Parts: sequence; structure tokens; C-alpha cells
Amino acid sequence: MRAIRVNATGGPEVLSIEDIPTPEPSEGQVLIDVEYAGVGFVDTLFRDGTFPLAVPFTPGIEVSGRVRSIGAGVAGFEPGDPVAAVLNDFGRGAVAGGYAESALASADLVIPLNSSIDSAIAAGSMVNGATAWIALHRLAGLTETDTVVVLGASGGIGSAAAHLALAAGATVIAVVGSVERGEELRAAGAKVALRAQLEQDLASIAPEGITVVIDPVGGVARQVAIDALAPLGRLVMVGTASGNDVQLSTDLIWHRSLQVSGISLGGIAHLHPSLVRQGALSALEVLANRPVIARLDQAAHVHAALATGRAPVKTVLSVTGP
Ligand SMILES: NC(=O)c1ccc[n+]([C@@H]2O[C@H](COP(=O)([O-])OP(=O)(O)OC[C@H]3O[C@@H](n4cnc5c(N)ncnc54)[C@H](OP(=O)(O)O)[C@@H]3O)[C@@H](O)[C@H]2O)c1
Repeated sequence: MRAIRVNATGGPEVLSIEDIPTPEPSEGQVLIDVEYAGVGFVDTLFRDGTFPLAVPFTPGIEVSGRVRSIGAGVAGFEPGDPVAAVLNDFGRGAVAGGYAESALASADLVIPLNSSIDSAIAAGSMVNGATAWIALHRLAGLTETDTVVVLGASGGIGSAAAHLALAAGATVIAVVGSVERGEELRAAGAKVALRAQLEQDLASIAPEGITVVIDPVGGVARQVAIDALAPLGRLVMVGTASGNDVQLSTDLIWHRSLQVSGISLGGIAHLHPSLVRQGALSALEVLANRPVIARLDQAAHVHAALATGRAPVKTVLSVTGP
């Protein structure tokens, strides 16, 4: 089968397309013929070795497609069934594998797709949708009275979080790098704040303070958002796209009556697969924007764009297309 491989970690140029053997599903696994494979910023971190995976490997932690075959002990799926799956199941030894004609998934991280669900949206919503839903509804305990600041809202996970919070009836402040990158969310009902003037924008948009922060970015924006949290505010860290971690005083957490939490989907997938499925399915009921579709052999271009911080909201690779 055709697959994108990383034989040695490095820049986008290390992504090469190769013919490799099609894997066989082991016990508890489903082999999926991939239609679309989602691409996310985290894939660039696996590719460059920031998050180490043993080489060689095939990147890609979310797919949609059809069941090709099932391993021993798997019930509820038949060959040909339309499905989507989360593949970042590192606790069970999975090694990504999405940018390929066929990909292995643990059966409990596979969700059936009905005919009304767009397969490209499904592939692009698995990881971001599940993570954002868990961050908002499980960790932040979101209600419609909340004022939610979403950092990195022009990107994959931030956009998913902003749309899910809007759908839940919350007030959403989408933080973006430029006015243009906030247009879609403004039209969807969010208020938009600019990352470069975040402190001033938050003070004028929400002078009473904010109650929830969903943060995939880190750095200065994380610090500003923490400072703007009202007592009993909840901060959920989901990533650090800026590359800049922030030191946080534990005393400050109780002095200011804050709740601080985080989620790594790949770290909990093997422990809480039903929660991951619940998050992904719930997100699929809300997320309706079709991602940009690139060809499998354009994976390196998509990775290069993600490194600039100016990539489209979400891109998926069409594996069966031309
Ligand atoms: N916790 C989990 O399980 C989980 C799941 C998925 C992703 N993540 C993490 O979440 C983060 C975002 O992933 P993503 O796929 O949403 O990325 P993305 O699509 O590239 O979006 C990131 C956004 O952050 C903003 N940004 C600010 N500073 C940046 C910088 N120096 N470099 C790049 N972007 C910057 C950009 O928006 P503006 O320029 O408009 O500000 C960009 O749109 C990553 O750290 C990823 O590892 C974690």
C-alpha cells in the first residue's frame, strides 16, 4: 500500500511516499481502508522528533474510510462499514499510521459513520473534536452562562472548541492572529480578540472577567488569559503551539480560586476509549465546516504550512483521490 513514511525525524522534507506491506489487524483491532487522513500541528511534532516515535513510522492519528478487515474478538463491525477512528493510541503501542491507504485502529476507538456524515469532516474532527469536547464538557464543566476564551481559534483544535462552545450556548471570545483569521468565527457568533492586543481586547470585551480558557497555544497569550480569569474560572491546557510553556504558581491557583487542568488525548485513549468516542461523536453533531483537502503526496506541503502558523483551519489528505 502507499503510505507517507518518516525514516528519520526532521523537517517536512523527511515525509516520503513509499510502498509498504498492508498490515493485518491483531486481536481487538480494525483495519480501515482510509479515505481521508486528518493533519494536525501535533503531526509535525512527531515528524520532527519533539514527541518521539520509533522510526520508521507513518504519521497520522485520525482517519475516515471503510472497514477492510477485523481482528479476533472484534464485534459490531463488518467489512465495508463506513467509519472514522482516533489512532493516537500510544498506550497500546499504536504508532499513528493514518497517512496510508490502510490504517490499524483499536476497535474501541472506531466510530460508525452514518450516511449523513461527511467523511472529510469526520477525519478532520476526530482528534480536535474529541479533545475539545472533553476539555469543555468534562474538564471545564461548560454551561451557557460561561464566557469562554479560546486561544488559537483560527487553528484546528481552537476552531473546534469555539464551535462546540457556541453550540452549547456559551459566550465565546475567539483569539486569533489577525482580523481575517477571525472572520468565520465572528460570522458564527463569536466575539473576536487579537492575540497581539489580547489584554486590551479582553478588558473591553469582557470587563467582568472570563470564566473558561481553552488553550492550545501557551506563551504570552496563556499568561494574559490566566490573568483575566474570574474567581472559580477554569483553565484547560490542550497544547502549546507557540512552543512556549508558562510557569504557574500553585499558590496562585488557590489564592485566585482557579481550576487548572489539561488533557492529552493520546495519553488517555487506551484508558477511557468510551469518553473519546463520546467526545468525537458529540463533536461530529456540531462541526460542519469542510476541511481543505490535499492529496496524500502533498503531506510535506501541509506540514510546512502548519509550521508558519498560517495554515487553513484544518486540512485532510485524500488518500483514495487522484
Ligand atoms: N491535547 C491534545 O490531545 C491535543 C489534540 C490536538 C492538538 N493538540 C495540540 O494543540 C496545539 C494546536 O494544534 P492545532 O492542530 O490546532 O494547530 P494549528 O491548526 O496549527 O493551530 C494553532 C493556532 O495557534 C496559533 N498560534 C499562535 N502562535 C503560534 C505559533 N508560534 N506557531 C503556530 N501557531 C501559533 C495560530 O493562530 P493565530 O496565528 O491566528 O493566532 C494557529 O492557528 C498543538 O500544540 C497540538 O499539539 C493537542
